[in-house]
Amino acid sequence: MNSDALDLRSHALFARQRAIAPFSRFQVGAALLTKSGKIYYGCNIENASYGLTVCAERVALLKALSEGEREFSEIAVATDAQGLTPPCGPCRQLLWEFCGDIIVSLHSARNIASQTYHLSELLPHPFDATTWRQPQ
Ligand code: THU
Repeated sequence: MNSDALDLRSHALFARQRAIAPFSRFQVGAALLTKSGKIYYGCNIENASYGLTVCAERVALLKALSEGEREFSEIAVATDAQGLTPPCGPCRQLLWEFCGDIIVSLHSARNIASQTYHLSELLPHPFDATTWRQPQ
């Protein structure tokens, strides 16, 4: 969808409503903003094997990548936990590799103030292709 993304929080909260989380009952929503102003929604999707669960952040990222998007500026994540919930380790890795040092904003369905980070704060000293690729 297109948006000027004035309120990415509300988009993440909307995305959260689509969560498929019958096992954990922990619903997560993500809204990934492209540099051109498009927003891709993601929600966590659980299944009976548990281990094949996909996080909201990765759903949003993979949807955007598969639609050809390559440049991103922010991802907003929303839950209703007691505190704010930053992305898990694997999501941080994929966000770093495909989005670079984007803004990660954390939001709550409760009355908790949002927080904003650069991804590099959440994933210092990252591993990526520049780490091991030899110069030609
Ligand atoms: N989850 C996310 O969607 N994003 C995260 O960054 C952390 C965890 C989901 C996975 C699972 O469905 C539920 O939250 C409980 O771990």
